[in-house]
Amino acid sequence: MSKIVFILGRDPLLSLAEIQALFPEATPEYSTDAFAFFDFTKSQPDFNDFKRLGGTIKTAVIKMTATSHELSDALAELIVRQNPDSVSKIVYGVSVYGWPEEHLHSLLMRVKERHQKKGIKSRFINKGNVNLTAAHYLHLLKEGREFAVIRVGGIFHLGEVVGVQDIEHYSQRDYGKPFRDMRMGMLPPKLAQILLNLSGVHSGQTVWDPFCGGGTILMEGALMGLNMIGSDINPTYLAGAQKNIDWLKHTFSVNTPVELFEQDATRGDAPRRVFTADTVVFEGDLGPPLSPSVRPDQIQGIVGRLQDLYFDFFSQRAAQLKKGTVIVSALPFFRAGHREFFLTEVVKAIQNEGLQLDPFLAGERFRDVLLYRRPDQAVGRGIYRFKVL
Ligand SMILES: C[S@@+](CC[C@H](N)C(=O)[O-])C[C@H]1O[C@@H](n2cnc3c(N)ncnc32)[C@H](O)[C@@H]1O
Repeated sequence: MSKIVFILGRDPLLSLAEIQALFPEATPEYSTDAFAFFDFTKSQPDFNDFKRLGGTIKTAVIKMTATSHELSDALAELIVRQNPDSVSKIVYGVSVYGWPEEHLHSLLMRVKERHQKKGIKSRFINKGNVNLTAAHYLHLLKEGREFAVIRVGGIFHLGEVVGVQDIEHYSQRDYGKPFRDMRMGMLPPKLAQILLNLSGVHSGQTVWDPFCGGGTILMEGALMGLNMIGSDINPTYLAGAQKNIDWLKHTFSVNTPVELFEQDATRGDAPRRVFTADTVVFEGDLGPPLSPSVRPDQIQGIVGRLQDLYFDFFSQRAAQLKKGTVIVSALPFFRAGHREFFLTEVVKAIQNEGLQLDPFLAGERFRDVLLYRRPDQAVGRGIYRFKVL
């Protein structure tokens, strides 16, 4: 197995950067905004790692390619080949990418016909002309397999799906936890996973979140088997984070250590172990809740205060961190009218304070910052990666 296709989430650049950070040995091949092919000849991935990708919806291992004339025969053959032990009926589903879903039904009928001609009993679970959802896939797993057909130009790549984002599990983690505070802004668990993955941290290592709030990053890190340390200036949020962690440990039988302490991230002594953390990952203060109709003059004061906060944090703390420590930070940016406001000055200034910006992606996709914003919101998150020199 050498080629894997990743079906990307809503923010394709973030998804791509995350895959590259988690699988640095894999070579990126062709990609669009919807999917990306990676060559894994140099190292076999652990399929369990696909579950920790917050920006990928589905992952499939490519098994063969076909022209449009060969497609039905090839898919019919692949379905049989991947089900060698099937004694009764083969059960399967198909999803298509880079090709309109309206073609699905006729493709499925042609595959069925091929099977019938060969006396093979099979049943597809697709309803109408639509791809399988995560729920379909998880249900299908009990009795069958899902296949992905990805069209690139005149060639169809046929693969077996090996991982799908478990939407219900995310929603349980997000809405089921006991402490939520809308004023603080809600970091989606998927984005917390992406931030952790962008840092390149792996199981058994230690991560510090110095602005941990209700603990979303701590929770997602603990689920990945990372040792997590969280601190925050606000004792109410810390108590909430503790509740969330206790709930997570109990609900999902997690036993990786999570440690919390109260601290202003810009001053005071932090425990020594914090500075031996392998990475620092955080979503910082996003400023006050803003309505989408906020005016530019209202934003300027907020940006000034936040730049001071982050300058103090980075300049005070970076010197105390180990050389080579990676810091992944989600810093706010704002939109008012047609203008956008980034914390550009602080990003520039801290590069004279022992930190180096470590950009994402390469070639024409190269980015200093990756953006995450919902269209109706005045505040977005600009994701930066730094290395301690
Ligand atoms: C947007 S929230 C982070 C939310 C968090 N990522 C979560 O998932 O719940 C920002 C946090 O930064 C904290 N904060 C603001 N200024 C701080 C400072 N100087 N030191 C430490 N924490 C601070 C706030 O108390 C708040 O919990």
